[in-house]
Amino acid sequence: MAPSIITGLLLPLLAATSSLAFDTTTRCTTSTFSSLSGVEISTVETLKGSSILRLPDLVPSCGGPDKNITVSADICRLVANVRTSNSSSIRIEAWLPDNWNSRLLATGTGGTGGCVDYSRLQSGAQLGFAAFGTNAGHDGSSGHDFFLNQPEVINDFGHRAIHVEAAVGKKITALFYGREVSKSYYDGCSTGGRQALQEAAMYQDDFDGILAGAPGVDWLKIVASKAILARRIGWPDLNSSAYVRPEQWQAIVAKQIELFDELDGEKDGIIDAPQNIRFDPALLACGTGALGQDLCLHPDQVQSVEEAYQPLTNGDGEIIYPPFIIGASTGVFSNNQKDGKPILNYSLVRDFWRGAVYNNSDWNENNFTLSDLDYALSINPGGVNSNSRDLSRFHQRGGKVLAYHGLVDTTVTPLLSMEFYKGVQAAVGLSLEEMQSFYRLFLVPGMDHCSAGPGAWNIGQVYPLDSKRLDAANHALLALVDWVEGGKAPDFLTGAKYQNDSVSQPILAERRHCPYPSQSRWDGRENRRDVRGWVCGYA
Ligand SMILES: *[C@@H]1O[C@H](CO)[C@@H](O)[C@H](O)[C@H]1NC(C)=O
Ligand SMILES: *[C@@H]1O[C@H](CO)[C@@H](O)[C@H](O)[C@H]1NC(C)=O
Ligand SMILES: *[C@@H]1O[C@H](CO)[C@@H](O)[C@H](O)[C@H]1NC(C)=O
Ligand SMILES: *[C@@H]1O[C@H](CO)[C@@H](O)[C@H](O)[C@H]1NC(C)=O
Ligand SMILES: *[C@@H]1O[C@H](CO)[C@@H](O)[C@H](O)[C@H]1NC(C)=O
Ligand SMILES: *[C@@H]1O[C@H](CO)[C@@H](O)[C@H](O)[C@H]1NC(C)=O
Ligand SMILES: *[C@@H]1O[C@H](CO)[C@@H](O)[C@H](O)[C@H]1NC(C)=O
Repeated sequence: MAPSIITGLLLPLLAATSSLAFDTTTRCTTSTFSSLSGVEISTVETLKGSSILRLPDLVPSCGGPDKNITVSADICRLVANVRTSNSSSIRIEAWLPDNWNSRLLATGTGGTGGCVDYSRLQSGAQLGFAAFGTNAGHDGSSGHDFFLNQPEVINDFGHRAIHVEAAVGKKITALFYGREVSKSYYDGCSTGGRQALQEAAMYQDDFDGILAGAPGVDWLKIVASKAILARRIGWPDLNSSAYVRPEQWQAIVAKQIELFDELDGEKDGIIDAPQNIRFDPALLACGTGALGQDLCLHPDQVQSVEEAYQPLTNGDGEIIYPPFIIGASTGVFSNNQKDGKPILNYSLVRDFWRGAVYNNSDWNENNFTLSDLDYALSINPGGVNSNSRDLSRFHQRGGKVLAYHGLVDTTVTPLLSMEFYKGVQAAVGLSLEEMQSFYRLFLVPGMDHCSAGPGAWNIGQVYPLDSKRLDAANHALLALVDWVEGGKAPDFLTGAKYQNDSVSQPILAERRHCPYPSQSRWDGRENRRDVRGWVCGYA
């Protein structure tokens, strides 16, 4: 495997690494790790870059049962169970590259946890990191049986797994390479982004740099919001005059894009700043001609759509969760029937409330109200609703947070990231300038949840990587490394849109993404698909 192409940045460290005085193959044995306590090793194997790793035992919700993935570098692969209490353990998986850059990269999970993030292991090992993944204490990203009557399994998912992964990961890395890691990083999206900011708040010494995608802070509210919004649109009574059907929602969102797309200067299917738009659903009422007879909104439906875009408020009318974003697909709450019966396709609310909140397999979300959310918040299973804005200890020790969030995120409203950013600023008591010196948030127009969408969204967060874009301007993790180790804060990130979203195809557009609250603006001269046409600034 060729050394990583991040030359300017990593040269000194790579030089040190190339003089490693041992043969990684002979080190890649169980005995190297025998001093670890509470760790039960199941696999230690040497794998060649470009070979295929078979994963025959993956559960279906993690992509199994028989998944094959490409090994991205010459590595030593270790799989182990780490005891976390006397009724729980987490599985961790390490990819330890021969060509080590002296750093550690830990990764998180998505949804309701339970799946090793192989894509980030592949990227991390290719870039030279000792890369770690975890199942966060249970197997599977859907279902609830693993949580029933298992408070310690819930604790692993809620707050403990990543902390243990970091601690054990550092030991494994030191045993294998014969010296301590130089710097430790974390990379995760969605639930992985929740785990990211929770680490910064609770375990400030675990990582030097944290990459947080679409962070699911206030996790219980995010999950609950799907059921609450569904009920605002007449569900589960599919015959009610207020009920807005799935196909109507598709038409509503398509119409939003048609109406507001051009406000930013180009009709490209992307509303650049949907957070600034006030959408009046009366525009789509029957009689206006905006939508056909079968899709237009009757008066009660107009009211439903209006309510669907309102924030969640508590009994005192205070906002507790910001609104769904205009222009984003509403499937998480509007895909809510199957064979004529009401059921949310978004299964997380059912899974988590059954398994971790009510410990009751018969519960369902059809009558979900704010009191179900309030109850969950009051018991906060496993500490999962990590919502502390107080990152002062992480700030004081010099840690850096690089966050990103798509502006058409269908699962976690990007408004949450903006609100959280301001919340941290207030809690830590920093000026905007001080804030920017430790925490930067990049909003990505036209990006959905974690990746995908019509925008120039690729900032290196998915595998495979584009070998031509492995530098701090184009790759979020490398920008973070440059910030932590070189003191160079990222002034922008350049995102790419590939044909078919495939890095082996041509780039159709590149665009500069800017640290919130600044915004990328077209200079009005260059081609809008050329990164040089974009500057960061304020309205
Ligand atoms: C994985 O590879 C094995 C061995 O080549 C093959 O038998 C199996 O069908 C593959 N699995 C999938 C899901 O492609
Ligand atoms: C489990 O751990 C707790 C606290 O560490 C201890 O008090 C208890 O005896 C243990 N239970 C078993 C069955 O080992
Ligand atoms: C969960 O439910 C089971 C079966 O109803 C019960 O035995 C158990 O005590 C409950 N556990 C908790 C933590 O409530
Ligand atoms: C809804 O309407 C359909 C057809 O009009 C009917 O078959 C069904 O029983 C109704 N459902 C309810 C819950 O009223
Ligand atoms: C239902 O959810 C699954 C899993 O998240 C997703 O792949 C699928 O596209 C969804 N279907 C609909 C109709 O929303
Ligand atoms: C929801 O509430 C209604 C009215 O109280 C009740 O008839 C229905 O059985 C409940 N549905 C579920 C799934 O609990
Ligand atoms: C893009 O992907 C689609 C579906 O996978 C495929 O049919 C099409 O040929 C691809 N286009 C190109 C240019 O590769």
